[in-house]
Amino acid sequence: MPYIGRATVTAKREFARNMVSITIQCPAVAQESLPGQFVQVRAWPGPGTAADPLLDRPLSVAGVDKQKGTFELLVRVVGRGTRLLASVPVGETIRVTGPLGRGFLEAAGAAGPSILVGGGVGLAPLKFLAEVLTAGGHEVLSLVGARNAAELPPPGELAGKVQVATDDGSAGFHGTVVALLEQMLTMVVFRSGRVPAPVVYACGPTPMLRALKASATLLGLPVYLSLEERMACGIGACRGCAVRQVGPKMAAGEVKMVRVCHEGPVFAAGEVDLDA
Ligand SMILES: Cc1cc2nc3c(=O)[nH]c(=O)nc-3n(C[C@H](O)[C@H](O)[C@H](O)COP(=O)(O)OP(=O)(O)OC[C@H]3O[C@@H](n4cnc5c(N)ncnc54)[C@H](O)[C@@H]3O)c2cc1C
Ligand code: FES
Repeated sequence: MPYIGRATVTAKREFARNMVSITIQCPAVAQESLPGQFVQVRAWPGPGTAADPLLDRPLSVAGVDKQKGTFELLVRVVGRGTRLLASVPVGETIRVTGPLGRGFLEAAGAAGPSILVGGGVGLAPLKFLAEVLTAGGHEVLSLVGARNAAELPPPGELAGKVQVATDDGSAGFHGTVVALLEQMLTMVVFRSGRVPAPVVYACGPTPMLRALKASATLLGLPVYLSLEERMACGIGACRGCAVRQVGPKMAAGEVKMVRVCHEGPVFAAGEVDLDA
């Protein structure tokens, strides 16, 4: 059962340009969360007549400290909900429901050498995944994309090896993170024959996920994607986040929808239609 209740903000810091790291004291979420799972948060009154925004906002768990009983969120301010959340002072409480959804390793079934691909708010679940995989002794390479150097996380924030790509070439590879992945794989980084083929885990904007799905599938790599559909209830009740399921398990003409908040947010790339 997810935790539902109030939790105290214990620390805040700037993580990257326009992205705040918020640490929250909540032992239940810290103990139970798995990489790729998310919480629904509310830093404003409600639910009730004056609730604005009306709905809680979904945010990925970006890391946990089980001993301290805290978990971390990485919040990019894009609207009223994230602005209110990012401005909660240390010592104040917010409402938390979670952890929710299916994480990366539950979707993949096992851990091994991994390539993590993402950028922007997609970094949040990947940061947590990199920590768990490296702690388990697995080889991890994170490919982090951003528009420019200022939007990248500072060095040392992600566990394992990190390579960066920027659209304007101000840091690392000049181009998209998917183009960087293609270059890395053709350089035979993981393909020495001495290690199993890596699994690719990704989170980011849909066009990036679409491009990644096409490249990695072509290269024959298993790919798991975390989708960030808009959500309402966040607990599988309203079907507002449903996406179309695809793949070999579907009969011809069969139409089936899966809920991103409940069956996801992580899916095998071949399992969901990113073009709808
Ligand atoms: C499973 C999941 C995990 C997420 N994890 C994170 C995270 O770790 N950090 C983080 O900063 N954000 C994350 N998000 C996105 C976050 O939930 C939204 O940015 C937030 O709900 C926006 O609320 P708002 O009131 O600030 O903006 P709104 O006023 O609701 O929207 C502002 C603008 O952002 C757009 N927008 C809002 N939600 C989304 C979305 N889900 N996808 C694309 N565009 C959207 C709107 O269309 C609008 O243009 C996640 C979303 C999901 C579904
Ligand atoms: S947001 Fe309600 S079912 Fe997913």
